Amino acid sequence: MKILVIMGSPRKGNTFHAAERIREILQQTLAVEWEYVMLRDVDLEQCRGCYTCFARGEEFCPIKDDASNLEQKMLDADGVIFATPVYGLQVSGLMKVFIDRHSYLFHRPRFFRQKALILTTAGAVGIKEVLNYLDLVARIWGFDVAARVGILSSATMEPLPAHREQENERRLQKAAAAFLEALQRGTRSRPGLMDVIFFHVGRAPSAELGERAPADHHYWADQGWLEKGRRYYVDVPVNPLYHFLGQIVEWYLRRQIRKDMLSAR
Ligand SMILES: Cc1cc2nc3c(=O)[nH]c(=O)nc-3n(C[C@H](O)[C@H](O)[C@H](O)COP(=O)(O)O)c2cc1C
Repeated sequence: MKILVIMGSPRKGNTFHAAERIREILQQTLAVEWEYVMLRDVDLEQCRGCYTCFARGEEFCPIKDDASNLEQKMLDADGVIFATPVYGLQVSGLMKVFIDRHSYLFHRPRFFRQKALILTTAGAVGIKEVLNYLDLVARIWGFDVAARVGILSSATMEPLPAHREQENERRLQKAAAAFLEALQRGTRSRPGLMDVIFFHVGRAPSAELGERAPADHHYWADQGWLEKGRRYYVDVPVNPLYHFLGQIVEWYLRRQIRKDMLSAR
């Protein structure tokens, strides 16, 4: 089983040690091939905002650095851990640059085989915001998010009070167990309401804009995602109520897009 850790801390500190603890727990049951991508050591420039990846395709990005290698590493993995400390109430800058540079994935998701675990550490506040944000990013990129865990830590990496250490250990154990279960199961979890809504939110512009957004349109068409009655990216049972609600959202969005295109003429 291949596990990739995208590490958004610039040091081998609290977040790295939490990831190592998850590795230890998994390795008690599973043979894992473990790889860290330390974003601090990766050649990853800031996004220049040219929109080329959205419009023409990521292969036309003018920046030639490690971004596409990182996508390939995620595709090759069975599980990906997105790990970051809380910085200024959100993910670290390293993690944000990584996400920005892969923003075409919000339009053209692809990690449907991979399980994800979201991990963050903080001194006091911001855990919920970071977990919610990274969970959303990973889901829209296609990941099956199996677990999310946030722990409190000391900036100087000194030992915490015993009760805090115990609570952190309990949380890491719980998240590792859920991740392990998902990795061993292999099959995809049923999509939740928001997953189904995201599918329809993505489908509306990909279908309506057509050749005005060729990269998205061709990608969606090639995957068969524009076919009538399609319920989700992959063939998994979809709750009929979620499907119904998703269709309403898509119908409304498509109407808005058509209106906007008419008035722009
Ligand atoms: C630049 C910077 C900003 C930080 N911002 C926050 C914050 O908003 N909320 C918080 O609870 N902790 C904050 N912290 C503390 C770190 O989140 C915390 O110490 C974390 O465990 C560090 O992880 P690391 O050792 O893996 O780098 C910040 C630390 C730094 C260096």
